[in-house]
Amino acid sequence: MKKKLIAGNWKMNGSLAANASLLQAVLDGSKGMNCQAAVCVPAAYLAQVQTILSGQTLVALGAQDVSAQEVGAFTGEISAGMLNDFSVRYAIVGHSERRQYHAESDATVALKAQRALSAGITPIVCVGETLADREAGKTEEVVKRQLAAVIHTNGHCISEIVVAYEPVWAIGTGRTASPEQAQEVHAVLRAQLKAATSHSDRISILYGGSMNAANAAQLLAQPDIDGGLIGGAALKAPDFLAIMAAGSVSA
Ligand code: PGA
Repeated sequence: MKKKLIAGNWKMNGSLAANASLLQAVLDGSKGMNCQAAVCVPAAYLAQVQTILSGQTLVALGAQDVSAQEVGAFTGEISAGMLNDFSVRYAIVGHSERRQYHAESDATVALKAQRALSAGITPIVCVGETLADREAGKTEEVVKRQLAAVIHTNGHCISEIVVAYEPVWAIGTGRTASPEQAQEVHAVLRAQLKAATSHSDRISILYGGSMNAANAAQLLAQPDIDGGLIGGAALKAPDFLAIMAAGSVSA
């Protein structure tokens, strides 16, 4: 059975000093844990965090986005090749905040996943419905459409992705999907991946959206929840460590 993946998404938070103390506490507190972990940090801190994480293998380095373009006149963008220079292992693509505030389409997200994959970086592909979608009974339709775009563009390479189900209404709101609600959607995504590749067992499907120290164990105990993508709780070492510990138990 694969180990649970607990990935922190720091979003636009941090400073040189805060990152150093957060990571020191996470590294000190996680020795011997039986999960995989990652921190997806702002691009400005990739070099700093690469240095802090060097020499250990439990916590990997991740980025929060990657350009859909390879190189050239794209001011402000960061390419997969540049992420490679910092030995980045994961890149989040299609986070709902990128879809919402930067108008990223399903097609753009699929291209970003492709750029990451061709650079040997594992894309963490985020999908999730809004509250309006859920109330209209469209949850399944929306997440399947978002994932289908990535499958269509990436073909058999999708066995190398990670998927994160993040209901938009649960992100940063303190309103978590119940374990049953999350499992229901994870099972849908699992079936879609199974139909697309014979290596779907390799693909971890993470849950994200107000996962915290108190609710992680129950969510991670669901059969199709392979880990978590953690926002707010990843900024506090004791909380992130508690989620990693929960992931180590239900590995
Ligand atoms: P949250 O964010 O844990 O703060 O809800 C999760 C995410 O957006 O990845």
